Amino acid sequence: MQHKGFTLWFTGLSGAGKTTIGNMIMERLQNAGAKVEILDGDVVRTNLSVGLGFSKEDRDTNVRRIGFVSELLARNGVICIVAAISPYKAIRDEIREKHENFVEVFASCELDALIERDVKGLYKMALEGRIENFTGVSDPYEPPTDPEIMFRSDKETPEGSAEMVWNRLVELELISP
Ligand code: ADX
Repeated sequence: MQHKGFTLWFTGLSGAGKTTIGNMIMERLQNAGAKVEILDGDVVRTNLSVGLGFSKEDRDTNVRRIGFVSELLARNGVICIVAAISPYKAIRDEIREKHENFVEVFASCELDALIERDVKGLYKMALEGRIENFTGVSDPYEPPTDPEIMFRSDKETPEGSAEMVWNRLVELELISP
């Protein structure tokens, strides 16, 4: 397949489907022979950002680091998928500005559905006050105002969302399968 180097940046609340859809896209790209990497917040926090917490300052540092690496990869022809809450619009916009090709994907989901789903059990803990500064519960999330792509994980199937993301990348002429 032919493709450009670009960053596919998933932003959204914990459990909204960033990693799930990001991995589905990654697998499809790999099967098509594309050069692709994924930077997942949960994984980055165990190495590149080890020791950082969830204050605004630490999140900004974490997200800027991810943005720095993704731009290096994208400028070298790699497709870099990012899955990070990245709650602050200004930082996402700052990273966008540094990129030649940046595609923001808003993983959207009603909070009630996330609390109901609670795959990692973190919402329950946050609601009980056992985790502080939890995004969406006790910490802010600023949704994108004009994302290239948006999906609703509480209304769509993962396959449907992934297909939509894929088709949009074709439409944007970033990939040509
Ligand atoms: S970000 O805000 O800096 O972009 P990031 O995506 O790296 O966040 O990490 C989010 C993950 O950390 C969540 O999916 C969750 O597993 C875990 N986590 C632990 N504490 C918190 C918290 N207070 N707020 C949000 N996520 C948290």
